[in-house]
Amino acid sequence: MKGKVPNEFIRELISSTDIVEVVSRFIKLKKTGKNYMACCPFHHEKTPSFSVSPDKQIYHCFGCHATGDVVTFLSEHEHMSFIEAIEELANLKGMTVPYEKSDVTKDRDQEIDITQCYQALDAANKYFRWQLKYAENAKDVIEYIKGREISGQTAKYFQIGYAPELWQGLYDVLSQKFSDKVLSAVGVVIQNEQSRIYDRFRGRLTFPIYNRRGQIVGFGGRIISSDKSQPKYLNSPETPVFHKSQELYGLYQLKQREKPTRIIVVEGYMDVVGLYEAGCYHAVATLGTAFTEDHAKVLFREVDRIILCFDGDKAGQSAALRAFQIIMPLLSDTKEARFLLLPESEDPDSYVRKHSRAAFEALCDSALSTSEFFSYFITKDKDIDSADDVAKILSKAKEILTGIKDNAYLESIKNTLAQKLGMSFAQLDAFLKHTNNSQKSEPSNIVRWQKLDINHLTVVEKALAYILMMPKGIDEVVQRNNTVLFACKTEQHIILLDALNIIRQNIGLTSAMLVQILTEKYEKFRQYFYQLMQLPVELDEKLLIDELIAMLDKVTKEASQSELELLISKSKRTILTEAERHKLQKLLHKKEKT
Ligand code: UTP
Ligand code: MN
Repeated sequence: MKGKVPNEFIRELISSTDIVEVVSRFIKLKKTGKNYMACCPFHHEKTPSFSVSPDKQIYHCFGCHATGDVVTFLSEHEHMSFIEAIEELANLKGMTVPYEKSDVTKDRDQEIDITQCYQALDAANKYFRWQLKYAENAKDVIEYIKGREISGQTAKYFQIGYAPELWQGLYDVLSQKFSDKVLSAVGVVIQNEQSRIYDRFRGRLTFPIYNRRGQIVGFGGRIISSDKSQPKYLNSPETPVFHKSQELYGLYQLKQREKPTRIIVVEGYMDVVGLYEAGCYHAVATLGTAFTEDHAKVLFREVDRIILCFDGDKAGQSAALRAFQIIMPLLSDTKEARFLLLPESEDPDSYVRKHSRAAFEALCDSALSTSEFFSYFITKDKDIDSADDVAKILSKAKEILTGIKDNAYLESIKNTLAQKLGMSFAQLDAFLKHTNNSQKSEPSNIVRWQKLDINHLTVVEKALAYILMMPKGIDEVVQRNNTVLFACKTEQHIILLDALNIIRQNIGLTSAMLVQILTEKYEKFRQYFYQLMQLPVELDEKLLIDELIAMLDKVTKEASQSELELLISKSKRTILTEAERHKLQKLLHKKEKT
């Protein structure tokens, strides 16, 4: 577990990065007046409505209203998490992200040196590779590999090795160089309750798993005996350097080879190896875990098209459905996923050997689009002429699609399903939407914020929106505004005041910096801030400032009024303190004046 990134670092990073420079790495920008324009990378368009402002250090699309700073841009455009975007930016600037150590990692780090971990894993790999040649039963192992039609070249390419049938084979060798702590931390040995240490992988073929940087982070191990009491595969456990939900077997090798245009995700180590043997070089596998959102993001950073391949059995089908739900929200104009369901009792390895590489590639070419997959999945074993079955299909569709954000793919899914069921799109849509509302309450604030509408904002929110846009003249506003909001009714009131304070104290702030500083305090609001900023405002800066001043006056008055009411009602119930009485008088006096 990495610790938190210090806010000061994020600030420094954002303020020292030029958004124009970063965005132009991905899209071609054209200078137009103060700003830079391009066709929006977040929606399809022919005339440019995507603008990048060097002054505000933000981007904004007048078409789809995407808005954000350099971090948002990277995370949206490159499908990265916030932290990944920070890392990427730091990378571009040649800076290292200084993670704050949480207490847990502090303790652990004191014990374990990460460099040692990588070295130990590398040494383990060398040991396994050596054993493949020199173990007592090396001949049988080679026979097994040959029996599975893996050539020496392929075995070498994947660095396949062998862990002999010994309790302390690897341990004896590696313990000369590495501490027990390191060896068990990286999972190559297991320490039992009696503190006895033994090798994790015994009598197994080993498959080293590489991370993005080409370091070994773990192993898969396939049993070669026919001993049914042992699991067929063992995998390294989660360790400080190995996170199964993020790593994919074969991805590093594949990237070394060529820039892929599509990647096929399969279920097993041997599928990747078997496909490679057959000449199909663009497969990766999950590591004994289900396909995750992180996997999808990692892959979409490499290619625009992913083909998810599943065995034809029941387990494969439900895995496919889970993957469908995970990947749907990540699809866009440019990012596409397809589904390949193999015939029952085949996996990619057996299929490609039984048929041919060309046959497998042809299957990939005809893999189902999301809407084809969905409509196949939902109507399989159902009779679409039976009203009963149609009801079942609809309720299942509702269940699966609930919570998936609207995008072009969802629309096409609904279209295909509507056609199949002989309904109109509107009918189906209404049905799905209707139940959506009654079924689940909205999961998080973020979803609600996506529906911000300028006509339904409170004055406080609107004022905040204007402030976030950092119009010219804002400095004067904050200087003359000495609003003290007594009765801060909502979090937005507090944020509004804070924003004014921040601007007062930081000269030359950009919109992006303001959002960053605010987000440090009001963490869950980051997206909300950008949504406020993207509201369509058709005022020039001068008028905007005038309106802002008027709004701030109004907010102040409202706040005074509610405080006044509060004090009056309190005075009727109990005796006010000296301070309260003083304040009441002041408020009444102020009211008389206006
Ligand atoms: P499969 O059982 O489909 O194996 O498991 P496979 O890939 O076809 O392998 P061969 O052809 O029999 O050698 C697919 C994946 O599921 C995980 C492994 O990652 C494996 O590659 N798995 C399977 C385990 O983690 N443990 C097991 O016991 C079995
Ligand atoms: Mn197999």
